[in-house]
Amino acid sequence: MRSRSRPAVATPARPVGGLLATIAPLTLDGRPAPADNARMEAILIAPARRGDSARLAAMSRRLVEAGLEPCWTIERIERHRLSEDSVVLTAHVAGSIGGFAIMQYGDDAAHLNLLAVEPALQRRGVGRQLVSWLEDTARVAGTFSIRLELRSSNRTARAFYTALGYRQSGWVRGYYQGVEDALRFERDLAIRTTADSG
Ligand SMILES: CC(C)(COP(=O)(O)OP(=O)(O)OC[C@H]1O[C@@H](n2cnc3c(N)ncnc32)[C@H](O)[C@@H]1OP(=O)(O)O)[C@@H](O)C(=O)NCCC(=O)NCCS
Repeated sequence: MRSRSRPAVATPARPVGGLLATIAPLTLDGRPAPADNARMEAILIAPARRGDSARLAAMSRRLVEAGLEPCWTIERIERHRLSEDSVVLTAHVAGSIGGFAIMQYGDDAAHLNLLAVEPALQRRGVGRQLVSWLEDTARVAGTFSIRLELRSSNRTARAFYTALGYRQSGWVRGYYQGVEDALRFERDLAIRTTADSG
């Protein structure tokens, strides 16, 4: 039987210290500059460290769980950080955490539990970089399906995942503490799309 453990963080494509990528700098009016701008800003994609969980829990409360009873506590995030079955991934921009994601690997599919990017950094490619890292590691682990749920009111997340090649596969009534429905999204990683080069 195939091991359920997450892929080792150090793969040929993913050095232990993290992956350096770039995102477009902001223009004076706060919008991303054109992608060919020479002053691209570096972001470091790396596994979360001990001590990051409090900040990630606060980001989740603010950006993902607003209006709900927070269930992504520091302890829960720390359990995922230490688990062999999960990856807690951070994106550092200008020296501080600008985004993060949590993914859990199962036998048949990986589940993207959480993803958030600080509002000031949104729409600059940080979310895409995080998901791309997780998709690459899932492929390395031989897991070719990624599933997730999002709040039915979250139009931004729906547009984001659709742009990345995810498709709606279900609708779960009352999934969020009976307060809100969830949309279930899924991507088959065996199928390469234009989103992979985006
Ligand atoms: C959803 C979220 C993670 C996206 O992160 P991001 O870094 O802003 O996304 P990216 O810049 O990588 O966007 C990639 C593509 O997604 C689409 N997209 C992202 N935000 C969008 C928006 N507000 N409206 C329409 N399309 C959007 C676009 O196609 C974009 O590509 P483009 O900018 O070249 O057009 C971010 O908006 C966020 O943290 N939201 C709050 C928390 C949340 O909803 N989390 C997800 C559910 S758990």
